[in-house]
Amino acid sequence: MKVARLAAATDFDGWRTAARALMLNGVAAEDVEWVVGNAASLLEDPALLAAPSPGSSRFTVPKQFIALAQDAILHRDSQRFGLLYRLLWRLRGEPRLLSVATDEDVTRARNMQKAVARDIHKMHAYVRFRESREPEGAVYVAWFEPSHHIVAAAAPFFVRRFASMRWSILTPDASAYWDGAALHMGPGASRANAPDGDALETLWRSYYKSIFNPARLKVATMQSQMPRKYWGNLPEAALIPELIAKSSARTLGMIAADATVQRRRVTKYEPKPVAAPVDTIDALRRHAAECRACPLYEHATQTVFGEGPTPGAVMFVGEQPGDQEDLAGRPFVGPAGKIFERALSAAGIARDAVYVTNAVKHFKYEARGKRRLHKTPAQREIEACRPWLEQEIMLVEPKLIVAMGATAAHAVLGKVTPIEANRGRFLRVSETTQVLVTVHPSYLLRVPVEQHENEYARFVDDLRMVESWIARQ
Ligand code: URA
Repeated sequence: MKVARLAAATDFDGWRTAARALMLNGVAAEDVEWVVGNAASLLEDPALLAAPSPGSSRFTVPKQFIALAQDAILHRDSQRFGLLYRLLWRLRGEPRLLSVATDEDVTRARNMQKAVARDIHKMHAYVRFRESREPEGAVYVAWFEPSHHIVAAAAPFFVRRFASMRWSILTPDASAYWDGAALHMGPGASRANAPDGDALETLWRSYYKSIFNPARLKVATMQSQMPRKYWGNLPEAALIPELIAKSSARTLGMIAADATVQRRRVTKYEPKPVAAPVDTIDALRRHAAECRACPLYEHATQTVFGEGPTPGAVMFVGEQPGDQEDLAGRPFVGPAGKIFERALSAAGIARDAVYVTNAVKHFKYEARGKRRLHKTPAQREIEACRPWLEQEIMLVEPKLIVAMGATAAHAVLGKVTPIEANRGRFLRVSETTQVLVTVHPSYLLRVPVEQHENEYARFVDDLRMVESWIARQ
């Protein structure tokens, strides 16, 4: 029996190095014991690291397996390292193994991957920060108990959302600290290290009261979406018994109040969109219909929300609805939508198989006589709308997001992203999600006529990459 020792429960690089050495030395899966703990050597038989056995041949590991292993290794099941090594071992003789959905090892690993993705999703939805006053200013601290080893994987979401604050998320296994410039990972903590209640709780409670809809109350569903396990952590959970008790007598408006850290009061454009545990895309759509977070709602006909299958593997993000979308209340139904649909079909993608949305949900325009001319949304409008997009992403759980044009790329990636320099490359933004950047379809309507054919073909080529990605899933 060979012992492979990993530095930490999430030590993917260590696992990969050990697995490679074991494979090259022909060590079968049943002959390896995987243990976690600090140690100088990765394999307790260092000879294995140095010398591939005679006759061993290198083999290429499918990318799909790497992605699966990176996710599944975050699962708490102590058998995961061995399971992944067994899959790797078997892949050498069965290259198509991962597409055998009935295979027991494949199913187990995929279930682990799904459980990890769900856990990350729950962490994004249920972390609640409390303010802690430190000599050097406010730090926002949250306590959370994930089911799996997901703190590092989930942290970039909080960096994007709360970039200007200093915050810590403490969990029993690990902690993440953002100092306003860099993310630091640290050891686990105990609940006592987190502050216990402050004004932010009141905000969460008032938000939750405002979104609680007694007419749609399904206690079992609510409990499964917001499992009891998280209740102790959620200020609004204290209200649940009372709200359930009073539900038949009450009617509540679907008003979205600012449930995130409120640093500055906005009066005219409230309620702002929220980062809150809304559990279905329909509920989110209803909240978005009431959005007053920026001035755009004043002149637009309606909020144009995304549409498509949920959960969906692929999400397309455009800029903002145009004139026809504003009237129809659906994204991409005007001229840009027509060319988008034509290109999708040329690439072999059915429009109704993908989720389509925009970075900004209201039409921004300039009135010229009877015409309404598109105006590019300002950065503050993109920011005001970003929580909707983020929650859409949380609920749709896309594994691939296609950002079409500069506004979408900025909204999705959180920074200015030149299209030409980045198009056609899969950018990994989290353990579970990749982003592909391409041009906006309306660009094809504007290019000089002699370039149109070429630019259209390039756009279709980008969409073909999406189609091949879908085929690989
Ligand atoms: N342009 C977009 O970005 N989105 C639409 O829905 C329509 C045009």
